[in-house]
Amino acid sequence: MIGASGQIGGWLMRHLAERGHDVVGTYATVAQPGLERLNAGDPEAANWVRQRGADVVFYPAGFTWVDGCERDPAKARAANCLEPLTLARATLASGGRFVTFSTDYVFDGARGPYGEGDAVGPLNEYGRAKLEAERLLTEELGDRVLIVRTCWVYGPEWQGKNFAYQVVRALREGKILRVPSDQWANPSYGPDVAEATIRLVERGESGLVHVAGPEHVDRVGFGRGVARALGFDESLVVGVPTAELGQGAPRPLRGGLRSEKLEGLLPGMMRGLAAGMADFVEQVRRGRARDPIGC
Ligand SMILES: NC(=O)c1ccc[n+]([C@@H]2O[C@H](COP(=O)([O-])OP(=O)(O)OC[C@H]3O[C@@H](n4cnc5c(N)ncnc54)[C@H](OP(=O)(O)O)[C@@H]3O)[C@@H](O)[C@H]2O)c1
Repeated sequence: MIGASGQIGGWLMRHLAERGHDVVGTYATVAQPGLERLNAGDPEAANWVRQRGADVVFYPAGFTWVDGCERDPAKARAANCLEPLTLARATLASGGRFVTFSTDYVFDGARGPYGEGDAVGPLNEYGRAKLEAERLLTEELGDRVLIVRTCWVYGPEWQGKNFAYQVVRALREGKILRVPSDQWANPSYGPDVAEATIRLVERGESGLVHVAGPEHVDRVGFGRGVARALGFDESLVVGVPTAELGQGAPRPLRGGLRSEKLEGLLPGMMRGLAAGMADFVEQVRRGRARDPIGC
């Protein structure tokens, strides 16, 4: 697994181990016990993959900072398209299957939530690089690749970077959190994204599958749902139009994903926000994630 130190990677590692799979994971900059260091841009990375000879290579990695991608399109394309393509070729050469993650940012946000068959049209460099990766991987690997599109992933994680932690960090100090009032998508609970992905792989599924939560909400609804679940004052989450926020990269406004294909294959895998947050609190209590609230 390339990117085991990240949010989705961390949950993939945990679920794979719990389901009895033998798994080796890597980090790039944030060392964690038991993980090996690997930079996907290193010329030796393809050899590392070939030497492992894994049945499946999961790639929940990349340059995931959307505004950073806008500032450095060459790095965005290298990290989110060319590097996974190189490692996917190495996987194929050693007889394995490749699993990677894409985003609702491949769409223009005019009329989400989107299904797998809807027309794409990315607005920013992150989305363009991800879309190019989808196309090249599909072209070269055919039924040896599974591409999971997801969005607004939240939940317990060791690095504590996702939106739920941002909400907590602001609200526990009584600060107002300004979020875009006109950006819509589906909050997707990280452990569910990981488990659904693994089950798809175990079934031998390939191609493109949307794996996102069942509710389509704006960022204010998302932030307030997180606040409510953790007992914070939800009125501190304040909506501001995207046009006033000065974000570096243009965002698809009406984004989000419909996961009907997943629902047909594996019904009921994705929890809603209230159930996801209840599990989040439980995971923290059991010491399985960084504690954002001191519970
Ligand atoms: N989170 C979301 O809401 C969301 C939505 C749609 C799609 N996705 C996609 O899902 C995937 C996983 O997202 P995430 O939120 O779990 O990301 P994340 O928490 O930012 O984790 C990214 C992982 O990639 C690793 N990485 C970064 N640069 C690398 C490099 N050059 N070589 C090897 N590994 C490298 C990181 O390692 P270190 O941390 O050790 O540096 C980390 O393990 C990404 O492809 C992302 O684009 C995420």
